[in-house]
Amino acid sequence: MTTPHHDDTTPAVRDSHASPARTDRFENPGLPPHVPRRADVDPKAAKRAEVQVVAMFTMSALASIAFVVAYFAIDPDLKGYLLGIGEMNLYHLALGVTMGLSLLGIGLGAIHWAKTLMPDEEVIEERHPQASGEEDRLVVGQTLSHGWRSSQLNRRSAILGSAGGALGLFALPLVLPVVAGLGPRPSREALFETHWEEGVPLVVDHSGAPVRAADVTQGSVFHIMPEGWAGPQAFEEHGAEEVMAAKATDQVILVKLDPSLITSEKQREWGYDGIVAYSKVCTHVGCPVALYEQQTHHLLCPCHQSTFDMTDDCTVIFGPAKRPLPQLPITVDAEGYIVAADSFREPIGPSFWERERPGLLGDDES
Ligand code: FES
Repeated sequence: MTTPHHDDTTPAVRDSHASPARTDRFENPGLPPHVPRRADVDPKAAKRAEVQVVAMFTMSALASIAFVVAYFAIDPDLKGYLLGIGEMNLYHLALGVTMGLSLLGIGLGAIHWAKTLMPDEEVIEERHPQASGEEDRLVVGQTLSHGWRSSQLNRRSAILGSAGGALGLFALPLVLPVVAGLGPRPSREALFETHWEEGVPLVVDHSGAPVRAADVTQGSVFHIMPEGWAGPQAFEEHGAEEVMAAKATDQVILVKLDPSLITSEKQREWGYDGIVAYSKVCTHVGCPVALYEQQTHHLLCPCHQSTFDMTDDCTVIFGPAKRPLPQLPITVDAEGYIVAADSFREPIGPSFWERERPGLLGDDES
């Protein structure tokens, strides 16, 4: 067999290819000598293996029958006490065990059969050139050309055009339902807007309780939503769908850092006495960034391990995210509760192609 050869090597590389030492290193070791299995040479061993395989398949068949019997015969609410496990539903246990034995018997039988009794031949299939021979290619070319001429399409351009149009438009009924089924196009504003605005109190996500700045101790972490969108009462008021949509954009993580660790002036100004609030929506593809390491002050996204440094304005120090988590400016109200000082000043969530909007990113109009 000849191997297609593309000589794109440098002279130095060609010389190294030509050296006998190099050629020897790749000598085909061939197959190791064939070692017959015990069942191949000993009829008694073969008979024994056959009996074992039959036993496994029989076990599977019996377990399947037992499954059907258990399904109809056992009371679905039957409970029992098993040593080391405690009380459990015996009906489910019986169905699980019998189905497991049924599958196990088939698997073990098939594997044992293949390893002991099925033909054990080592076969080498030689490769052959992939391309057709010169003659075949010539025949195919002539056949295509004859087909084109005999179809007379070259002389019936109207048919050719209309057939092309019909086939091209035929894709529409296939593609349209898929595209239309993607749902409404998100408005441009939806990518920028959250429920945060100046004066909105920060409340604990699961309870809806407001957070007093004096109660936030150093190192503590709060998972936060805007007031009205947290706790069980939010589900009653807005319904689950709206609350989940709000969580997808509004969720914030609130941490109190040692003020001396904060390196960014903007971060310090937008926080309060070391308390800082950042969007929890990962700037990679939007998972909630919720793992805070108190010692390192790192925030970790569990989806693809993007890591953000909280003491450096949540800049990305590891992972696929491309930009820092947006910070929510906060302050405290007259009673000492933490409230938003403004909405986010940049879009939250995954980076997209057109992030800039007048007035949003702290430019002249902000
Ligand atoms: S979504 Fe956070 S790292 Fe991918």
